[in-house]
Amino acid sequence: MMIDTNTKDKADVQGQVRPCGKCGNSACPHRQTLEIKDLHVNVEGKPVLNGLTLTIRSGEIHVLMGPNAAGKSTLANAISGHPETVITQGSITLNGEDLLALSPDERARRGIFLAFQNPVEVDGVNLGSFLFHTYKARYGKDASPSEFNKRLTDSLRVLQLDRNFIDRQLNVGFSGGEKKRAEMLQLLILKPAFAFFDETDSGLDIDSLKIVRDAFNTVRGPCLGVIMVTHYPKVAQKVDPDYVHVIVDGKVVVTGDKTLVDKIDDEGYGWLAR
Ligand SMILES: Nc1ncnc2c1ncn2[C@@H]1O[C@H](COP(=O)(O)OP(=O)(O)OP(=O)(O)O)[C@@H](O)[C@H]1O
Ligand SMILES: [Mg+2]
Repeated sequence: MMIDTNTKDKADVQGQVRPCGKCGNSACPHRQTLEIKDLHVNVEGKPVLNGLTLTIRSGEIHVLMGPNAAGKSTLANAISGHPETVITQGSITLNGEDLLALSPDERARRGIFLAFQNPVEVDGVNLGSFLFHTYKARYGKDASPSEFNKRLTDSLRVLQLDRNFIDRQLNVGFSGGEKKRAEMLQLLILKPAFAFFDETDSGLDIDSLKIVRDAFNTVRGPCLGVIMVTHYPKVAQKVDPDYVHVIVDGKVVVTGDKTLVDKIDDEGYGWLAR
């Protein structure tokens, strides 16, 4: 059951970066590598991550589980460059480039995407123009209004959202489920290289969960590396992960395949060293 994330061979082009050609997205290099090594992070002066190591390659799905307050969202924040996370040791690299030296918006331009556990409400920012500006920032001179409109129309359909949804202010007054769907809308339009889903399943009713899962299934594939945090074994099983990691006290204490989810479902986290 325990597997080594560094040796599993999933593609003939491992380690290389070359144009994808599979998704029609010119900004999507195939087989990228996001590498987190011995990461130590303080938040408000308190150590939260304590030597976390994880390697994610394009096309892989990694599920992260672990008790509340283990540091999963802090990892998401550290990867995306949240100013509250202070890196005291270790590294995060994207294809060998030091991600920690980049600002949050530069990381997003490189294709790092975070679907927040608790998306913030931003009054005065219209969702539609927010989406267009982030799309333009991601694709630069390759951005095309017609391509944006196509992605928007397709994504609204997949997420079963009305067109007037994008006229609302970003997350303001959105229900919990609408906030999660708005996060997925950004994902479908931006087509990132790596996506961190921080409990995107939480608070969704059965039908919304299916809609979000369908949306996820439209973007999964060789171009996208996924880190998915969930507390629900059933969700973890359904995404058919390549790897399952458990984080306790700020580090990965066990890595396995999806059979590890069954063990957690049966036994909880008590058997893991704290
Ligand atoms: N801004 C902050 N100020 C103080 N403590 C913080 C802050 N952000 C995170 N922490 C602390 O860091 C620890 C890890 O929090 P984090 O949100 O990363 O946990 P988590 O694994 O995502 O938990 P959950 O499963 O409940 O979402 C917690 O003890 C939390 O209180
Ligand atoms: Mg969290």
